Amino acid sequence: RGGGGGLQQHTGAVSYRLGGPDVVKRVVEGFYKRLYADEKLRVFLHDQDVITLKAKQAAFMSWLFGPPNQSFAGKNLRIAHLRLIKQRGFSPADFETGLSLFTDAMREQGSPEAIVNEVLMKMRPFKEIIFTPCARDAEEEA
Ligand code: HEM
Repeated sequence: RGGGGGLQQHTGAVSYRLGGPDVVKRVVEGFYKRLYADEKLRVFLHDQDVITLKAKQAAFMSWLFGPPNQSFAGKNLRIAHLRLIKQRGFSPADFETGLSLFTDAMREQGSPEAIVNEVLMKMRPFKEIIFTPCARDAEEEA
């Protein structure tokens, strides 16, 4: 899989390049641990059971750590965060905090910077998606 003789690194599933599913599992655990420990983010998470949140995010995580160059075909992430935005003021800055905690969790597991950046580049577009009003907002709020 992924020939190219090392010319390009973005080849093969991220999870494989990080060292396998156990490493991914530790990254994800470290991410949730940090999310729930964050003073500011706690406002959005205090009533969310971590097991339930993990289950909701599972499809996203398998995409995130999966093969490169695939688009995320899961749920609309603006809609998933809409209540948080409208009712509790979840903001782009909070999202950035999340990305930075994710980065910390990857580094803690010794992930190479190139892969950390690759994963962040997959997550970053969702900032705009999540914080841009869309046609479905109205029906979700109704
Ligand atoms: C779902 C909070 C950042 C991806 C959720 C839910 C909450 C939440 C409370 C559950 C919503 C519900 O179904 O009731 C947060 C907080 C964040 C954050 C506090 C702090 C930074 C992110 C980031 C991503 C992300 C950075 C990825 C780019 C998702 C996904 C779901 C989700 C994939 C599941 C959507 C589904 O139901 O399929 N988030 N989120 N979140 N979030 Fe976030």
